[in-house]
Amino acid sequence: MQFRAVSSLDGERLDALIVPVFKEGDAAGNTPPDLRATAEWVARENSEHKLFGPITHLQEADQGGSTRLVVVGAGKHAEFDIGRAWQVVSAGVRALWQSTAGRIGIALESDALDAQEAVQSAVEGVLYAMWRPDTHRTGEKDRHLPPLEDVLLLIGGAAGSVYDAAIERGRFVGEAVNWARGLANEPANLMTPTHVAAATREMASGTGLQLDVLDEEQAKALGMGSYLSVARGSDEPAQVVVLRHHGRAGTGYDLGLVGKGITFDSGGISIKPAEDMHLMKYDMSGAAAVLATAGVVARLGLPLNLICVAMCTENLPGGHATKPGDVVTSMSGKTVEVINTDAEGRLVLIDGVTYAQREGATRVVDVATLTGAVRVALGRHYTGLFGRPDSFIDEVRGAGERSGERLWPLPLSDEYRDDMKSDVADLKNSGGRLGGAILGAAFIDAAVEPDTHWAHLDIASTAWFEEDRPFSPKGPQGPAIRTLVELATTIAGTNRGVA
Ligand code: BES
Ligand code: MN
Ligand code: ZN
Repeated sequence: MQFRAVSSLDGERLDALIVPVFKEGDAAGNTPPDLRATAEWVARENSEHKLFGPITHLQEADQGGSTRLVVVGAGKHAEFDIGRAWQVVSAGVRALWQSTAGRIGIALESDALDAQEAVQSAVEGVLYAMWRPDTHRTGEKDRHLPPLEDVLLLIGGAAGSVYDAAIERGRFVGEAVNWARGLANEPANLMTPTHVAAATREMASGTGLQLDVLDEEQAKALGMGSYLSVARGSDEPAQVVVLRHHGRAGTGYDLGLVGKGITFDSGGISIKPAEDMHLMKYDMSGAAAVLATAGVVARLGLPLNLICVAMCTENLPGGHATKPGDVVTSMSGKTVEVINTDAEGRLVLIDGVTYAQREGATRVVDVATLTGAVRVALGRHYTGLFGRPDSFIDEVRGAGERSGERLWPLPLSDEYRDDMKSDVADLKNSGGRLGGAILGAAFIDAAVEPDTHWAHLDIASTAWFEEDRPFSPKGPQGPAIRTLVELATTIAGTNRGVA
């Protein structure tokens, strides 16, 4: 598929043109003048439900014969941001599902957005729309994507090569998000820790990333007793997948990313109810996110040092499985009483966080489908954000805003840290149901050194859609990658200033 930024569609023969129309009734700034009135009319005719968000309508345009006009509700002007921008494009392309469209145009909105951002987010939107969850369906027709070859991005002013970098960045990010979605979507029998390592090897090849896969012996030698306690019930070998990017001279890491990689979470001995347990194949979404981010950072050649640590294992019951009440020793040296074997994410994360810091990471962000409680607190539209100091939380939240991902900070104070103290050990892994998302964060906090800048992203709310939305099918969504790439870019920018 080829993307081109153009300032006019004159002389172009298109199968479809996507035009966003705002709730206020006006079409995107770069809509071709001869189609503006038609697009706005289509929007008015369908206004009862369509302008509250990206909902798509198809109409044969009169002009030029067969160009199909895809009008997409873009919501209110005031709410239009980079996240909405890719959603609108994705909804438009998804409307072409099972069509034969090969050459399409997209009228970009570049008044509300910087033109480079408009181009990048449109490229991402197209790629997200072309991702499908039904990889294991055998019927040919089921998987019929439009055969897109040429995508023309209609942008005002000078077009052409000034947008090459934005197109490339959009492609890297879009492909990385889709890669992570693919991993999360795979069933647990086909996406074991070993498979995660193999997929990572393939993704990282040719990027210059350094890959290390630590097996259980090596994890044991490092003292990762908390992580390994989760792996005990499973016959699948646990694997810590580590990617390193050296983008500047000198030692240490400007950023360490740690991902929860539970390739299946049955709950262990504290077993989960059967309903929806099959979805716990996506409990490795955090691992997929951090690995995918490393791929983008390396492809962009960002001048920072980055280490990504994916803590992969299954969580199963069994004769050797960890039992409620067992006490284990984490890599930090702190002991943990395992109250509930279903609170396994934090057990694997603390050892990953300790490892990243021992390797020299001064900033650490962990990403995890950690708690059902964050879903209760925030619903499905925001990722939970925790950490310290506050200035670093603001930095991460800012990176989310600039990249079109929504993160919402929740409190973390000593009262919550006290709630995670055990009667028999230093820590317990469950402090009850109330404030469950915060308690999860408070547990991980115990492995964070005083000087480390740390953020914890609980993506249990955003990793998986339970229903189709106009811009995305139900299933894995690949959260956090856009935010983390933006964060790495910002940190690299400060390195550039110093160098
Ligand atoms: N993987 C789950 C959290 C989860 C639930 C993610 C639903 C996505 C959808 C996690 O390991 C878990 O089981 N958390 C427990 C913690 C509790 C036992 C303290 C939870 O949230 O109930
Ligand atoms: Mn669990
Ligand atoms: Zn889990």
